[in-house]
Amino acid sequence: MPKKGLFDLHEMKRAGEQITWLTAYDYPTATFEEAAGIDMILVGDSLGMCVYGYPGTVPVTMDQCIVHSEAVRRGAPGTFIIGDMPLGSYQASDEDAVTNAIRFLKEANVDAIKLEGGVRTVSRVRAILDAGVAVCGHIGLTPQSSGQLGGHKAQGRTLESAKLVVEDARALYEAGVQLLLVEAVPPEVAGFIRAELPIPVLGIGAGSDVDGQLLIVSDVLGTFQAFTPKFVKKYADLAGVSTAALTEYVNDVRGSAFPEEQHCYRMLEGEQEKFADWAKS
Ligand code: KIV
Repeated sequence: MPKKGLFDLHEMKRAGEQITWLTAYDYPTATFEEAAGIDMILVGDSLGMCVYGYPGTVPVTMDQCIVHSEAVRRGAPGTFIIGDMPLGSYQASDEDAVTNAIRFLKEANVDAIKLEGGVRTVSRVRAILDAGVAVCGHIGLTPQSSGQLGGHKAQGRTLESAKLVVEDARALYEAGVQLLLVEAVPPEVAGFIRAELPIPVLGIGAGSDVDGQLLIVSDVLGTFQAFTPKFVKKYADLAGVSTAALTEYVNDVRGSAFPEEQHCYRMLEGEQEKFADWAKS
């Protein structure tokens, strides 16, 4: 399948085709996703929890995001990849935002970056776009500022809160974002934004009235076990499968059931006798 670009993703919205999107953090997972025909990959700062075992995304650094984005690019050379700007990489100034967004392009060859925040992020979005980098906005529940939001809570569940989410969406669209992610908001609110904006509006925990879906691959495959948000559908239990396989290995080694003949290298023809003679001498 040819690699999709922004034009194709916008065309999919116009044609009413759903855009498929998953996170990935490493080379093998990226190869699986590309083989599955995914439209976009996010190298999310959720790697802090899913790969490093941090309690949240706050400790994640630019260097970590770059290393994982590079690996994902190698695994999915033909897929639209979005690098996720971690906390601290864009909050202080427009200059920081541009420098770090460009790092993603130069060092990891991503196609776009994502950053969290609506109205208050407009200046950063404009600066990054002016530098020639495609931007995906991220509104609703924004995990990097979950402290201010009172925790990892759904947004837009009251009229006042819904109006703030819509205001954020409008501000980002006016600033020029090419893609918009809406996280953990009621379907009515996500659907309203999708209908109003001509850009692809994708959802995670935002119902089905959007232009595409994002999920965290570690939830989908069942490798992340600390907690499971309400909106997740698990498609596999790799934690269970992996633990069972590893337990079998441990038991095989302890019980001398592994290795077997087929796992051994044998000496070349005639060398075994020579070796035995030499060992006796
Ligand atoms: O880091 C990430 O994976 C994200 C999603 C939670 C939207 O930003």
